[in-house]
Amino acid sequence: MLQTFTVNWTAMAEGTAHDYENLDALYRDHTANLLVPHLLATFKMLEGPTLGYQIDRERHSRQSATRALRNGESDEFVVAALLHDIGDVLAPENHSEVAAAILAPYVSDETTWVIRHHGLFQGYYYFHYLGGDRDARDRYRESPHYDRCADFCAAYDQNCFDPDYDDLPLDEFVPLVNQVFAEPKRHWN
Ligand SMILES: [Fe+2]
Ligand SMILES: [Fe+2]
Repeated sequence: MLQTFTVNWTAMAEGTAHDYENLDALYRDHTANLLVPHLLATFKMLEGPTLGYQIDRERHSRQSATRALRNGESDEFVVAALLHDIGDVLAPENHSEVAAAILAPYVSDETTWVIRHHGLFQGYYYFHYLGGDRDARDRYRESPHYDRCADFCAAYDQNCFDPDYDDLPLDEFVPLVNQVFAEPKRHWN
């Protein structure tokens, strides 16, 4: 019945509480059904070009998640590892921030922070070869999450370009993705 609900106005200012309760329910239902499929479809867009590395970014991401899983990391951290580069698809200049924004409602502050800053921290391995400062990340030295982010890059990012590593298939991670995105821990508005 709710699925047939349609407002009878054309400007939000005219809506009633009843309208917005119905709209909210429809939106939540839509999100619950489609968020994970959309994330996985976007993730699959990392497949293909290797961009000079030995594996593509989809496999790099699964390798990251596989190492995190095998290292006994939490479910949310494994999912964060899997999705840490998903922002590449739509925001190549600030991919870390996009991945962090996607994860933020569903994971801890620390996990969000790690993903938000992983691009800068990853620069430790190559910024100096491109005229930059490999220690640029040290501006966050005082953060309680500094070490976690540095460790993420060391253990689950910079080393995840190995064509011989037996990374797990995406199907292995889908239940975890569903679990982490089942319910937001907090709402943005
Ligand atoms: Fe990245
Ligand atoms: Fe990465």
